[in-house]
Amino acid sequence: MLRIYQEADYAAMSRRAAHVIAAEVIRRPNCVLGLATGSTPVGTYQQLTAWNQQGDLSFREVRTVNLDEYKGLAPTHDQSYRYFMQTNLFDHIDIDPAATNVPDGLAADPDAECARYDALVASLGYADLQLLGLGRNGHIGFNEPCDRFVKETHVVDLTESTIEANARFFASRDDVPRQALTMGIGCIMAARRILLIASGDDKAEALYNAFCGPITPACPASILQLHGDVVVVGDKAALSKLTAAGVSVCG
Ligand code: F6R
Repeated sequence: MLRIYQEADYAAMSRRAAHVIAAEVIRRPNCVLGLATGSTPVGTYQQLTAWNQQGDLSFREVRTVNLDEYKGLAPTHDQSYRYFMQTNLFDHIDIDPAATNVPDGLAADPDAECARYDALVASLGYADLQLLGLGRNGHIGFNEPCDRFVKETHVVDLTESTIEANARFFASRDDVPRQALTMGIGCIMAARRILLIASGDDKAEALYNAFCGPITPACPASILQLHGDVVVVGDKAALSKLTAAGVSVCG
């Protein structure tokens, strides 16, 4: 089933996405949450933090697995995804730090680290709910457009468009890592439920291609058409091409 929630703006999108995550945590307090980084989930994490600090939501028993990490960045590097998760969520909520997992970008043997991460996610029984952002080029995690869907966690060369999009977080474009470790399409698709969030008109085309285009590794998110339980939460701008095509939305 695909359910699409259309929200007025980023704040409303963030609140709706936080509700979907909170519902999972309330229903299954020891659930496995698959988490994402980037600009899109920041507001969602702020809302979850607020509910946690108000005493409305507890993460005490929750386990987490993040999608990806830049190769070569230490967890303490302010652009690493481990650092992002600490500062945007984990440091502010009652989660057990030992229950949070992000691939190790500094692993001496990145391929072994990818295999370890796959085994770890499998040992947790895969995510109950996997949060995804969407790249402008249709990537999910760092599964970039290519000629096949890569199932396993792997080291990926980032595309020029991703390096360009992420340069805003670094001092210069040259500082953006060229490679990342990313959960593969297999782990993402093994999640019981997918929550994809998108904001802004620069995501409209990718979102349209993901759900109305052909299922192709040229648009990695298009694989989600084969998943049985997907919730999309987007703002009006991000959903504009889908709604123009007559796709029905809630909200
Ligand atoms: C991040 C990730 C990426 C981002 C995507 C969108 O963990 O997996 O797929 O979700 O690049 O990034 P933003 O939200 O910054 O537009």
